[in-house]
Amino acid sequence: MKIFIDTANVDEIRQAWDLGIIDGVTTNPTLIMKSGRDLVTTLKEISEIVDDCISGEVISMDAEGMIREARELMKISKKIVIKVPMTKEGLKATKQLSKEGIRTNVTLIFSANQALLAAKAGATYVSPFLGRLDDISQESLILIEDIKQIFTNYEIKTEIICASIRSPLHVLNCAKIGADIATVPYKTLMEMFNHPLTDIGIERFLQDYAKSVK
Ligand code: G3P
Repeated sequence: MKIFIDTANVDEIRQAWDLGIIDGVTTNPTLIMKSGRDLVTTLKEISEIVDDCISGEVISMDAEGMIREARELMKISKKIVIKVPMTKEGLKATKQLSKEGIRTNVTLIFSANQALLAAKAGATYVSPFLGRLDDISQESLILIEDIKQIFTNYEIKTEIICASIRSPLHVLNCAKIGADIATVPYKTLMEMFNHPLTDIGIERFLQDYAKSVK
């Protein structure tokens, strides 16, 4: 399973990249706002840290505007993936960008039908949101299972990025389902390292080593 980090915080990205555990980065307008910097500056700096798969989201709501923004963002780096919303205009833009060889990540997906349409429009990635479904008491993992089943049935090459991840359990279950990618917030990524028995085991080894060298 590929792991992307879901943040626009460059320090978090650098730390995760140095750990050798991430394959890409996803950002969105909220994450960019939280970073306190503009999209272009942030994407430029991220492109100097990670090797590929850096999602930057367009803000236009019409296909023409999305395509115009996408072409500008692609001037930053070929590592950029263009994030577009799951709308009719978003899929119109996806179709055109796909023809131009520009990779797209169709985001804010909450149904398997939306994922199917995005894939048909030529999306490189689809981003179904788990946490926001859980927030309204809808089974988010069923969505991932349905998308995975449909994409497998028809050998659809579009990759599934599990987004709106809120816990290590989300990552675990998305991996068990066979999703291609999980995009994980820094805090959750660090939580994936932890197990109390690992800490206890290390402490015991250190104590026993100390006894053995006395
Ligand atoms: O990439 C999408 C993700 O950032 C959304 O997460 O927690 O705002 O639903 P969240």
